[in-house]
Amino acid sequence: MDHHTEDKLAAPVGITLDRFIQQRQEDFPYATGELSQLLRDIALAGKIINRDINHAGLIGINGAFGQQNVQGEDQQKLDVIADIRFIRAFRNGKEVCAIISEEREELIDTGYHDGRYVIAIDPLDGSSNIDVNVSVGTIFSIYRRLSPIGTPPTLDDVMQPGNAQVAAGYVLYGSSTMLVYTTGHGVNGFTYEPSLGEFFLSHPQLKTPEKGKIYSCNEGNLNTFPKPYQQYLAECREQQFSARYIGSLVADFHRNLLKGGIYLYPPTQSAPQGKLRLLYECNALAFIVEQAGGKATDGQQRILDIAPTTLHQRAPLVIGSKAMVERLEALQTVVTQ
Ligand code: AHG
Ligand code: MN
Ligand code: MN
Repeated sequence: MDHHTEDKLAAPVGITLDRFIQQRQEDFPYATGELSQLLRDIALAGKIINRDINHAGLIGINGAFGQQNVQGEDQQKLDVIADIRFIRAFRNGKEVCAIISEEREELIDTGYHDGRYVIAIDPLDGSSNIDVNVSVGTIFSIYRRLSPIGTPPTLDDVMQPGNAQVAAGYVLYGSSTMLVYTTGHGVNGFTYEPSLGEFFLSHPQLKTPEKGKIYSCNEGNLNTFPKPYQQYLAECREQQFSARYIGSLVADFHRNLLKGGIYLYPPTQSAPQGKLRLLYECNALAFIVEQAGGKATDGQQRILDIAPTTLHQRAPLVIGSKAMVERLEALQTVVTQ
């Protein structure tokens, strides 16, 4: 039997995430194997969260936890569960000396001071969508620590600009579950096959279209956006672009990455610095979008060049297809605020 006939009879499932990581070991800076293991830990925690999310309605883990996080936002039970799952995975893996999480006020010292890496995580993004069966995600950024190996981690280790990320990615718990990541050598996407319990390479070397016809923002806030954003959105409407806004950043970002488009979370009256968090949300997606040929800015400067000053700082975010982001940037310089 020839290969073609064989493939028709039993379609190949492709390459697993584990095998891919193993084969691409040389892509990893410092190639000690620890970063590869860290990505495997993330994939495993992602599978567990995926299970928890799928069971949520049945085993009573939907809904509010009854407390607020450091940012004054109501925590959902699954925010707390995802946070515990990831932190436990990182502690078990022993590759990171420090973790910062959107759900925790302070840096977590894992106690593994020989770990070369630190990680920033939004354990569950879009969690207000969980009760209504809409896609949610996990976002992560990995940095090499600055302090000497063998010593306790410091705040400087986790407050590096996004351009120092060695890897970043997200898990999207959507109509299928996907893991998308970069180590600075392009972007690869993996789809979870629940019956086999494995992620398989489904989107090799992802590139985002140079321009698209989708714009994504919370237009309810339109009247309080700065003028250049209002002007840009007027142009989107004039060109009859499609408005698509899920309200889960990971899901909105992923759609636009594949189809071409722009996502905007501008400064608003109630959130003058924007709403999204530089360290847990913006940096990882900015690294990915650039690796896929797109762009990310806070309206004034490249997201990846912002030097963070506080753990939970926010940044306006304009991210997506290059030509679309550049049009918004051009309007920033000509339209008076
Ligand atoms: P999180 O659930 O991690 O707090 O993030 C919510 C974020 C992001 O996912 C989403 O795009 C944005 O908040 C939606 O904000 P609005 O409801 O203001 O549009
Ligand atoms: Mn989030
Ligand atoms: Mn979150």
